[in-house]
Amino acid sequence: MQNSGRSDTGDAGNGVRVGRARWRDLRGVTAIQKASFRPGLAYGLSALGILRVFPGVVFLVAHTDATTVAGCIIGDRHRGALRIMNLAVAPSVRRQGVATALLRGIETRVPTGDIVLMVEEWNTGAQALYEREGYARDGVARDYYGRGRHGIRMEKHRTASGVNPGRRIRF
Ligand SMILES: CC(C)(COP(=O)(O)OP(=O)(O)OC[C@H]1O[C@@H](n2cnc3c(N)ncnc32)[C@H](O)[C@@H]1OP(=O)(O)O)[C@@H](O)C(=O)NCCC(=O)NCCS
Repeated sequence: MQNSGRSDTGDAGNGVRVGRARWRDLRGVTAIQKASFRPGLAYGLSALGILRVFPGVVFLVAHTDATTVAGCIIGDRHRGALRIMNLAVAPSVRRQGVATALLRGIETRVPTGDIVLMVEEWNTGAQALYEREGYARDGVARDYYGRGRHGIRMEKHRTASGVNPGRRIRF
C-alpha cells in the first residue's frame, strides 16, 4: 500500500476538505456511486481501485465532519485538456457546497488547460452547478448514455494564467 496521500485542502469555510483518495476511502466512494448513478454508470470498488493508481487520473474525495466520505471527483488528462469523468456527492450532504469544493479542488491540482465534461440532458441540477462554476454548453452528443439518453458537452476554457473565454476545443 502506498502512503496515505492525505493532503487535504480547504476548508472553504463550509467544513468541506478535499484531498487525494486513499485506499480506505474507496468503500465510501463505492456507496456514493451506487446511490448516485444507475447500474452501468456507477463505478464499483475494483474500478475505483484501478482509477486511484492509473497514470494521468486525478481522483479526489471530500470529507466533512459529519461524513467519512462526502463525495468524489475523478478526472483524466485527455487531448491536452482535463476531462471530468465522474462527480458524485452523498445524498445526505447535497446542496452544502461539496461538489463545488471538489470542482475547485481538481482545478487547483490541474491549474492550466481547458476542462471538459459530459452531463446527461435531464440532469439540470448538475448543469446548474457547472454553469455557476464557469462551464459553458458546447453541444449535444446524441445517445451518448444509451439510446435516447443524450449528453450535454460542457467546457471551461483556461490558459496558464486563468480563464480564457475565447478559445474553443473539441471534446
Ligand atoms: C450534482 C451533484 C454532484 C451536486 O452536488 P452538491 O454537493 O449538492 O452541489 P453543491 O452544493 O456544490 O451545489 C452548488 C450549486 O449548484 C447548483 N445545484 C446543485 N445541485 C442542484 C440541483 N439538484 N438542482 C438545482 N441546482 C443545483 C445550485 O446552484 C447550487 O447552489 P445552491 O445550493 O446555493 O442553490 C449531486 O447532486 C450528485 O451527486 N448528483 C448525482 C450524481 C450526478 O448527477 N453527478 C453529476 C454527473 S455529470
